[in-house]
Amino acid sequence: MAKSVEMRAAVRETYGPADLSSVPVFAGGFINFGYWRSIELADPISVDDRVRSQQDLYRHVLDSAGPLAGRRLLEVGCGLGVGCALALREYDPAHITGMDIHPQQLDRARRANAALLDASPPKLRFVRGAAESMPFGDGGFDRVHSVEAAQHFDDLVAFARETARVLAPGGRVAVASFFTPDDDPAHGARLADLLDTYADGLDIARPVTLLTEAFTRAGLTDARAASIGPEVWEGWDRWLSDQWKPGTWPRNFLKAYQEGALDYYVVTATRPEA
Ligand SMILES: C[S@@+](CC[C@H](N)C(=O)[O-])C[C@H]1O[C@@H](n2cnc3c(N)ncnc32)[C@H](O)[C@@H]1O
Repeated sequence: MAKSVEMRAAVRETYGPADLSSVPVFAGGFINFGYWRSIELADPISVDDRVRSQQDLYRHVLDSAGPLAGRRLLEVGCGLGVGCALALREYDPAHITGMDIHPQQLDRARRANAALLDASPPKLRFVRGAAESMPFGDGGFDRVHSVEAAQHFDDLVAFARETARVLAPGGRVAVASFFTPDDDPAHGARLADLLDTYADGLDIARPVTLLTEAFTRAGLTDARAASIGPEVWEGWDRWLSDQWKPGTWPRNFLKAYQEGALDYYVVTATRPEA
């Protein structure tokens, strides 16, 4: 049985009654910075293109975890579950489980996806659980993916161990999030200076190698981190530029990237065949 993991105060507040997905910098029920490679950075950027940037981040992560047809999928940190719905619509998995630590996010996810939850046979479910202690048996998923949630996980080593445990032999994981590019201890202080979400403990500064090494130590192979910073930060900043002045959160994400204190990655690894 999964042991309960305390939800940190910053996570509880950020995803509590004030629904972050309703803040205009996000849109369409998603809460991520977006993947902007195929989107023209027009002035202004339309809301439709902003939604597409967030869908494209999901598509990029799901493609990195693929192939997905007929596979059993787990999303860790699913938020409102609109990414689960996209995966069902576009990738034809056997079924998908959206897991999140925050009960209010799960309430929103169930409301946003009510029609899919009623479908027969059911191919979607939402489950409360923590990345560090997943409420599932061993080997029950062929794919695990996570989109812009790992920056909040308290314990990446426990997340890696749990991912390796719930993956079936031959299974794959793909995680998109932002990390420091190396273990220079100065990055943490600089990020806390630039970005309130690091200063208040919502986001945690850690080198991307912490996750690749944790996957390897957990028994996964071929763990690698690919930077997608060029496809994320400029588009995110251009989208924000209508509403936020330079030097404010979240315009400082681009600055942190340009200074070399932060980058955006997709981390992948494979559970060896038995
Ligand atoms: C920035 S939102 C991303 C939501 C969604 N993936 C998206 O892209 O729209 C991060 C989500 O991670 C969840 N979360 C934070 N810490 C978690 C943990 N330790 N285990 C599971 N979910 C967590 C939060 O409740 C929140 O819903």
